[in-house]
This record gives sequence, C-alpha cells and structure tokens, in this order.
Amino acid sequence: MSDIEHPVVRPRRLRTTPAMRELVAETTLTPAQLVLPVFVREGASEPRPISSMPGVVQHTRDSLRRAASEAVQAGLKGIMLFGIPETKDAVGSGATDPEGILNVAIADVAAEVGDNLVVMGDLCLDEFTDHGHCGVLTPDGRVDNDATLLRYAEMAVVMADAGVDLVGPSGMMDGQVAVIRDALDRAGHTDTGILAYSAKYASAFYGPFREAVDSSLKGDRRTYQQDGRNAREGVAEALLDIEEAADLVMVKPALAYLDVIRRVREAVDVPVAAYNISGEYAMVEAAAERGWIDREPAILETLTSIRRAGADIILTYWATEAATLLRR
Ligand code: PBG
Repeated sequence: MSDIEHPVVRPRRLRTTPAMRELVAETTLTPAQLVLPVFVREGASEPRPISSMPGVVQHTRDSLRRAASEAVQAGLKGIMLFGIPETKDAVGSGATDPEGILNVAIADVAAEVGDNLVVMGDLCLDEFTDHGHCGVLTPDGRVDNDATLLRYAEMAVVMADAGVDLVGPSGMMDGQVAVIRDALDRAGHTDTGILAYSAKYASAFYGPFREAVDSSLKGDRRTYQQDGRNAREGVAEALLDIEEAADLVMVKPALAYLDVIRRVREAVDVPVAAYNISGEYAMVEAAAERGWIDREPAILETLTSIRRAGADIILTYWATEAATLLRR
C-alpha cells in the first residue's frame, strides 16, 4: 500500500550528489561531438565582427588558420567553412574558381590542421550569387534545379581538389547528393565524403547568417527549403539522401526541429548531425547580454537538448568555447 506522506519510490535519490548525477546521466556532450562553423572573407586584412552574432567574425585567411588550430587544441574534430567572395555573379563563379576564397581557405585549413580536424565546406551557391539564391535561375527567375546540379558537381570537385574531407551540400536541390557523389568518384575523390543537409527548413532563424555572409537574397527560399510544418517529409529527405550515398545526414535548424532530429535518428543508421544555427546563437547571446539568462549554462543546456533529441554531431558557433567549458 502506498503511503502518501512517505513515498517508497523516490526519484530524488538519484539526484543527491554531483557524483550520483554524473553516474546516471543519460546524455553525453563532449568536444568531439562539436563542429565549428566559420566564415572567411576574401581580401580581408582584419577579422570583421558580425553585429548580430556577438563573438563571431568574418575571418581573414590568417585568423581562420588560428581559429582552426584553436579548435584542434580545444578537442574539436570538425570545422565547417563558409566563404564570402569579393565579387558575385549570376552563376556564382567564385564557388568553382580554384583561387576562390572558399577553396583557398580549405587548402589553408587542411595544411594547418592535417588529419587532426575533419575539414568540411558548405557546398552551395548562395554566398557567390548576386541574387543570393542557392542555385542558378531560369530566365523567368525561378531556381533551376537541374542546371544547379551541374554547378554543384563542379564545385564539389574543386573543393575536393583543395583538400576538403566532407562537402556539405546545403542547397536542397533534388538529386544533389547523387550528382555530387558521381562527380567526386569520376574525379578520383572516392574518399571525399558527403555531409548532406537533408532536412533543411526555410527558417526565420537564419537571419543573422545572412549578415554573416553579406547575403544578397531578396525574397525567400521556400521553393527549395522545407516547410516547417512537415516532419515526415524531413525523414523522407534524409532517406533519399542516404539512397544517394550521403555519408552523414543533417537536420537544420536544430531547436525548432528537435522532433525531426529524433525522427531522423530513429529512421537511419548513418550519423545524424544538427545545425545549431545563427538565430539560435543570437537569441542566447542577446538575452545573456541583457542579463536575462545565465550565458554559460544556457549554452550547455542548449547543446545538451540537441544531443538528447538524437543528434550525434552538433554544428555550433559555440563549439570552441563549449569544448573549453566541458573540459573544466
Ligand atoms: C546556405 C546556408 C545557410 C546556412 C548555412 N548554409 C543559409 C540559408 O539557407 O539561408 C545558415 C546557417 C545559420 O543560420 O547559422 N548556404
């Protein structure tokens, strides 16, 4: 018989001391699970702060090398590069120029870190196009899926030539993973892997990123990025990418899509990454700046929630700092 004043079952016993809590913790968060996204700006002589992402900068080639080596010191295992070109055009020529900023930065970082860090690069045209879309346009201004695939194939090979370990196609074009895999293999880059942004939702939380990459986008990406109301479709996109030989799949954004992370984790056998995006970073930083939340615990709680949802790997602008906090 249960006695209301003297419960027999007491879950609080497992919360009594820090050691007890450590012993029974269900979720781990370690530096090796974190990937640092970084921005590098062509022609920059000083790192430039990004006002909507306090603490994050557009790197110069030199400051990027230093950030990469700090990432290694902190125990991270991955870095994701975004390039910001000096000039843009309709087809995003800078993306496929071996001397373009993304490709030279990949080579810089690869030379700096060797095999100590997995070097990843965002495979997309939006930073390089003057209209800001992730692909090339038809004469009447729509994003042309199949013409874009040809550009992605070319871009993948140039990135692999520069030494990237994983390409991260983020443009949500149909068939992009298959086309990229085929192009890489034909060029002899059979060891270059694909981290597919599989379930990527059109999101208001990308706002600060648009400043970070000096985006030219007018309008939105709703004809290619997913509708936030659709979770089943996120799983379907991930399964399709795996059929097309994606090595890892990603869900993005993370916080408003924790259920999608969980569903994808349960549906696939490859590693699942989640991208803790710019707006998610900015919200915590802004509230902390006002003294409204305690910054460091908020960062760790955020990252833990993404792990608990099922992400094996988290891309986060806090990666280096969080790794340092975790080692304390
Ligand atoms: C597209 C890309 C975007 C992000 C990563 N890759 C922006 C977009 O789709 O509009 C967003 C990352 C972030 O917000 O932190 N190349």
